[in-house]
Amino acid sequence: AIENIKGRRVWDSRGNPTIEVEITLENGKLGRAIAPAGASRGTREAIDLRDGGKHLRGMDVQKALHHLNHQIAPEFVGKNIEDQADLDQLLLQLDPSPLKSKLGGNAMVATSLAFLHASAANLDQPLWQRVSKLYGRTPSLPLPEIQIFGGGAHAGRRVDIQDFMVMVPGAKSFDEVMEITNEIYFAAGDLMKAKGQLAGVADEGGWWPNFDSNEEALETLVRAIEKAGEKPGDRVVISLDVAASEFGKDGQYKLALEDRDLSSAQLIELLGQWIADYPIASIEDPLGEDDPEGMIEFTKRFGDRVQIIGDDFLVTNAKLVKDAQQMGACNAVLIKVNQAGTVSEAIAAFEAASQQGWQSIVSARSGETEDVSISRLAVGLGAGQLKVGSFTRSERMAKWNEVLRIQDQLGAGAFVQGAPLHNTFWA
Ligand code: PGA
Ligand code: ZN
Repeated sequence: AIENIKGRRVWDSRGNPTIEVEITLENGKLGRAIAPAGASRGTREAIDLRDGGKHLRGMDVQKALHHLNHQIAPEFVGKNIEDQADLDQLLLQLDPSPLKSKLGGNAMVATSLAFLHASAANLDQPLWQRVSKLYGRTPSLPLPEIQIFGGGAHAGRRVDIQDFMVMVPGAKSFDEVMEITNEIYFAAGDLMKAKGQLAGVADEGGWWPNFDSNEEALETLVRAIEKAGEKPGDRVVISLDVAASEFGKDGQYKLALEDRDLSSAQLIELLGQWIADYPIASIEDPLGEDDPEGMIEFTKRFGDRVQIIGDDFLVTNAKLVKDAQQMGACNAVLIKVNQAGTVSEAIAAFEAASQQGWQSIVSARSGETEDVSISRLAVGLGAGQLKVGSFTRSERMAKWNEVLRIQDQLGAGAFVQGAPLHNTFWA
């Protein structure tokens, strides 16, 4: 049973305050988790409660911490740690507001994840194993999406597109994905250096996108894949997070880099051109969160060729996933536990996706920490795919490295070559 819940302020990869929750059980076992923070957030995701005002640029989390220590913690002392659904249900009763604005999604997600950690510790199980047993899933090693260039809200909008990533569905093991991606990442850096474009990294550790157009980023990525000795579209494919809600509203999009306004139909044309010209196998948020018609049209036209992931569009919400399935919008969902606010709600979104044969991609946020819960969650759920940012910076590498540790426990055979990308042009 739970003896104590304590929240403390710690700091994330962008230097902002965030919340860590530590749960102590009566037998001395411990569960601990840290809330991440997004920069390109969906309007329908759980609220990341910040203090506002001038101190720490408004980013402090004292209000959420106060709720945690005074409203949440006392309710859970003495409660059984085994039933995650019950614990999350009680959290939801304490804050029934739709976006968790009362207690703060950041306080809630760290608490909910800490429950999961504590229950695993209580049973002396690794978290991935606890998750797999709790939710009746076969564990597997995920296929990573790894950022090579950051953009959008993670790079001062230097380019419009937020993530230029690679996936290596043709690798034989998770370990081999890491190796091939390392070669591509540094090949991209070399290409930029040769053109005088190298200027550090963006928020998630991908190269700062010193490019004149979104297409130049795509071209450079293709060159980097070649320079790394790979044939683009063979073992290695491109994945984009357009994060279109960041530059579009009501079906009108503004490409800042080219000072060009696009209708929903024109953005679909442009992305369709990229799909034809480059070996793109996956696109996230190609249209805005408020443009379901655009998303339906895009899915109709390209859903048989590329994985279409809803992030801001679905915000890890089971109901929105089901609605999208009905409408024929997207064919995959990004799973960010903090968008939902509790583990149980995130699992519900994952299960809604799986039931209709959708793929799921467990994802980090752009503001991250040493917390590696999501790596273990991705493995335990057998989610198939994992997105945590680039191939540098320890808040990112910690998550890839954790999968390598689990690989040693599960065996390299737990990586299923290409499987998560069936239905797309790669297969
Ligand atoms: P974030 O966005 O900055 O809100 O974490 C990451 C993403 O769009 O996938
Ligand atoms: Zn996204």
